[in-house]
Amino acid sequence: MLSAIVRQQLKAGCPIIIPEANIPLIRQGLKDIAVIDPDFLNKVQYLGPTKIFTMEKDQQHFETQAIRGQMERTGYREHSTPLFLTSSFTFPSAELMAGTFAGREEGIIYSRYSNPNTDELIRKVCDMEGAEDGFATASGMAAVFASMAAMLKAGDHILASRAVFGSTHQILTELFPRWGITYTYVDPEDIDNWEEHLQSNTRMIVLETPSNPGLALIDLEKAGALARRYGLILNVDNCFATPFLQTPLKYGAHLSVHSGTKWMDGQGRVLGGLVVGDAGLIDKVRFFCRHTGPAMSPFNAWVLSKSLETLAVRMERHCSNAFRLASFLEGHPKVLKVSYPYLASHPQYELAKKQMRMGGGIVAFELEGGVEAGMQFLNRIRMCSLSSNLGDSRTIVTHPASTTHSKLENEERLAVGIRPGLVRISAGLENIEDIISDLKQALG
Ligand SMILES: Cc1ncc(COP(=O)(O)O)c(C=O)c1O
Repeated sequence: MLSAIVRQQLKAGCPIIIPEANIPLIRQGLKDIAVIDPDFLNKVQYLGPTKIFTMEKDQQHFETQAIRGQMERTGYREHSTPLFLTSSFTFPSAELMAGTFAGREEGIIYSRYSNPNTDELIRKVCDMEGAEDGFATASGMAAVFASMAAMLKAGDHILASRAVFGSTHQILTELFPRWGITYTYVDPEDIDNWEEHLQSNTRMIVLETPSNPGLALIDLEKAGALARRYGLILNVDNCFATPFLQTPLKYGAHLSVHSGTKWMDGQGRVLGGLVVGDAGLIDKVRFFCRHTGPAMSPFNAWVLSKSLETLAVRMERHCSNAFRLASFLEGHPKVLKVSYPYLASHPQYELAKKQMRMGGGIVAFELEGGVEAGMQFLNRIRMCSLSSNLGDSRTIVTHPASTTHSKLENEERLAVGIRPGLVRISAGLENIEDIISDLKQALG
């Protein structure tokens, strides 16, 4: 019976993916099947579910890749990508198992190393970013940490933009110095003078653009040129822009890092992170993560990969809502200043137009009255959510000085553009009129 099905599949030229439990049966029927195709067992062994559909050249637009890039279908011919919620994988023979462990055979061993769902997600993000390879981690911070720790050793120095995410700041200032890795902060807008701060032991440039929450931009082309001139690794946190709006590798970055938790998920459900970039560097990230264990769960990878199918349409709406919000706030008498990369008043508007497809989903604005005014504003909000996350379908309002950045000294906050009355809005996908009306009533 089984061999009859296999016969049919072989005749139809279908890929043959056989449930593990049937392998002993297949072995029994091998002689029979081998008459039709002597190479049969090899085909069974190598047709794993980690192969990702390759796209035809004329289908390689961003949206098409995001939707059509998918792992090879299993024998059930499922339409939507399946979930491989399994910690380990099995082998039909001791030889194949030994060969896979030795790296002679391709195959998945254990979900801490790889899994069809994380492989699918990684491949998709690599295609979006133009990266050779990637690794998926349990959170954005695991990706940030691995992208640095996998490359550096005691005695190395990092040149970092001062405007980095709070936990990245803690890694640079508190954790790495314990292991003999030092840093120098430089101003994001002052890239023409970064060269002066390089040391003979500088190995990596770390930056975020746009920055969180001040929305300062860094010229990626200049950063890429600097890294190339001195043989440094350029490591860019691309979380705020997403690969839809910005592709740092195109400008010479070696690594692009993401918190998948934000726009990639887009509905505030799962944590996840990714590092993508040059294959040689990703080999180091993979080695580091394989043995330290911050792997992404297959479930989260499945959620994120499905979410990427709608990333382009979501980002277009997030960006148009954010632009409308920024324009509304700019004309409001109680607002001192609005920061949004695609507002003509943003000091780096031309740069934003050059390196970002649209302005992003985050708007920052400053209220008169400092911390108190910021907190009062949040207390008057009715519909939007008070939360620390961003990149959700729901509009989120945050007051960094009293929450995410409250541990910093006032001077440290000011140095990264966080004034006491600064409010950050992550524009959601609700109707823009409803978002504006909530903010209007909260501004009073
Ligand atoms: C720019 C940036 N990088 C990294 C992270 C960390 O991501 P996660 O919360 O997924 O660890 C965040 C989180 O807000 C972020 O904003």
